[in-house]
Amino acid sequence: MRRDIVVLLCDVWKSYRSRGEVVTALRGVNLRVARGEIVGIHGPSGAGKTTLLKIIAGLERPDRGEVIVEGYNLNQLNEDGLAMLRNTIVSFIPQEYGLIDELSVYENIELPLLLAGIGHEERRARVRELIEYIGLRGKEHVKPKYLSGGEKQRVAIARALANTPSILLADEPTANLDWENASKVMELFKQVNRDFKTTIIIVSHDPRILRFVDRRLILQDGVLREVS
Ligand SMILES: Nc1ncnc2c1ncn2[C@@H]1O[C@H](COP(=O)(O)OP(=O)(O)OP(=O)(O)O)[C@@H](O)[C@H]1O
Ligand SMILES: [Mg+2]
Repeated sequence: MRRDIVVLLCDVWKSYRSRGEVVTALRGVNLRVARGEIVGIHGPSGAGKTTLLKIIAGLERPDRGEVIVEGYNLNQLNEDGLAMLRNTIVSFIPQEYGLIDELSVYENIELPLLLAGIGHEERRARVRELIEYIGLRGKEHVKPKYLSGGEKQRVAIARALANTPSILLADEPTANLDWENASKVMELFKQVNRDFKTTIIIVSHDPRILRFVDRRLILQDGVLREVS
């Protein structure tokens, strides 16, 4: 049986203009990701990895090319449509975790549920379940600055899972971690993939993350290619 394609990019180009200079981050990227896959994209700094994830998440629009996510053609969605996509289908975990310093672990994970209008009891049950899942019971009321890098990444993953997305995008999830903690975070992604059938795309300049994924790609000079 053919597996359904949940992310499809066809000839995607993206340039930025800053101070009169044009930087072309993506030069005709093609990508197909099947449901339930864990894809690892490796590439040097400045290769366009973050740009690629932001385009899949609907946080940036391509200059040219098609982006289809769970059947939605992102070029045809307005800003409200893209917000719906981010709230219900695709979760993006930013490079520096994206946690809110003033909020506790509990409140950070609760935030997407609050924004989705989920009621108090259901929120509480879901946040507790997620805290248990990432192994941070007892740290509910701690602020992010008192957590280790690995713990912050786990909270970022829990927050990203709150609204049960079908696709998880992780930008350099192991960048600030030693190898032991980096391995634990990668194992957590594998567990999420097994438990919830979440499709996961991870980008990193660290080639060691590639040993944890189902399929390996390299992004270099704005072009994506498969590695065996
Ligand atoms: N908002 C922006 N304005 C101008 N240039 C940008 C912008 N965002 C990215 N770029 C440029 O586009 C190119 C690709 O950037 P991107 O952040 O996607 O790379 P990256 O692979 O994620 O790098 P890193 O590994 O350092 O995070 C870089 O040359 C960068 O300077
Ligand atoms: Mg980046």
